[in-house]
Amino acid sequence: MTEAAPKKEPRRKFQAIRGTRDLLPPDTALWNHVEETAHSVFSTFGFGEIRPPVFEPTELFARAVGGETDIVSKEMYTFAASPESESDESSNETISLRPEATASICRAYIEHNMQQLPQPVKLYCMGPMFRRERPQKGRYRQFYQIDAEVLETVRPDASKDAAKELTKDAIVDAEVIEMVMTIFDRLKLPGAQLEINSIGHAAENCRRGYVEKLRTELLKIKDKLGTDSQRRIETNPLRVLDSKLEHEQPIIATLPKIADHLCDDCKTHYAAVKRELELRGVFYKENWRLVRGLDYYMRTTFEITAQGLGSQNAVCGGGRYDGLVELLGGPPTKGIGFAIGEDRLILSLQEAGRSSLVRRGGPLVYVAWMCANAYAAAVHATKDLRAVGVRVELPPVEQKLGKALERADKLGAHYALILGDNEVAEGKWTLKTLADGTQQKFTETQLLDFLKKL
Ligand code: HAM
Repeated sequence: MTEAAPKKEPRRKFQAIRGTRDLLPPDTALWNHVEETAHSVFSTFGFGEIRPPVFEPTELFARAVGGETDIVSKEMYTFAASPESESDESSNETISLRPEATASICRAYIEHNMQQLPQPVKLYCMGPMFRRERPQKGRYRQFYQIDAEVLETVRPDASKDAAKELTKDAIVDAEVIEMVMTIFDRLKLPGAQLEINSIGHAAENCRRGYVEKLRTELLKIKDKLGTDSQRRIETNPLRVLDSKLEHEQPIIATLPKIADHLCDDCKTHYAAVKRELELRGVFYKENWRLVRGLDYYMRTTFEITAQGLGSQNAVCGGGRYDGLVELLGGPPTKGIGFAIGEDRLILSLQEAGRSSLVRRGGPLVYVAWMCANAYAAAVHATKDLRAVGVRVELPPVEQKLGKALERADKLGAHYALILGDNEVAEGKWTLKTLADGTQQKFTETQLLDFLKKL
């Protein structure tokens, strides 16, 4: 009796996980262009690059971003730090994929004693962040940020002149905002609009007083609010101002405004930020409802929106966070920074047709070698051309001329470098311009010169 052949299971076809995606050529050329532009602007403003790990203790994000925020309470990817078999002390700890970079940069600042460096320390980083949000256009579970932070530990001998300190901070804020607007200008981001606000600081007579007043007012109209806003009356009334629910908009418009409750220091600081932005020719709109979704902010908050993005139109968010480093166990330190949402930035550039403006290297040369004799010369010519920066496609098989030209055309090559018996005997190569079919003969030196100039 013959055994029945085992039933073949259909092979599973894998797909990228919901909310994640592959970034593919030619789009990746635009990603590289954006990142190179950012590297170059950061360097002109004196920022250095830091590359923190993509996971950290969950506790770091809970403490920095805030345990009650949506980011920490609902959206983090969290897992056990070590397998159960490893019995080190930290095995009970959980770790999380980073939902943002500010907490990691502050942790690194403390860990590497950067308060001992000349202050302020200006750092930036780029890379993937992870939030388990409902995916939609411009919102992903793995997305990319370009993040910049300025950190300055307050020395015991620092100036006691409060007004001078406030102006100095405002200048730093304005310069950071000017820097991100410079990146957007260089990239010709369409319709970049900056909105700013001051949310005061945590002291009794400033934000705390305002939050209490807001809570009292919100409790009076609780029934008219949606469930999220109702919950936030207790957890974080400021976040009610952020609501996008249509029926809440007229209600929110009548709520007390923080600008009317800022203490004198916060008022001085906010006025100086606006003055400094004007000095730098940076246009802004004030938005008293701009409170941001992370807990660490104080005084300056800002967001930048761009065209072509639908509801997820914020391409950058940031603000000041004096005290965060101290909250994470470091010395009293001031901080200000932002993160650009790179996915949204790219989307907006693509919608505006900017991707075609990105140069993808020089012309492409297809090496049409047509006999075994020509192969070694083709390999050497390819190596020499690539060494001077020419893009070259060398087919791994001998081809007839017609076939080679057809393939060169499909690949979008500008030139075909023809190497057959005649060319090898003559020591000269034929370069065919594919657009018009014209041909020229060159020695190798002439060829390199000609292509280098392009
Ligand atoms: P954030 O507002 O949470 O701020 O994020 C900054 C930007 O990242 C957003 O404006 C958006 O462009 C992008 N972004 C956020 N979530 C997603 C997502 N799920 N999909 C695509 N893009 C997204 C922060 O992260 C702060 N750490 C910024 C900061 C730095 N503040 C001070 N320093």
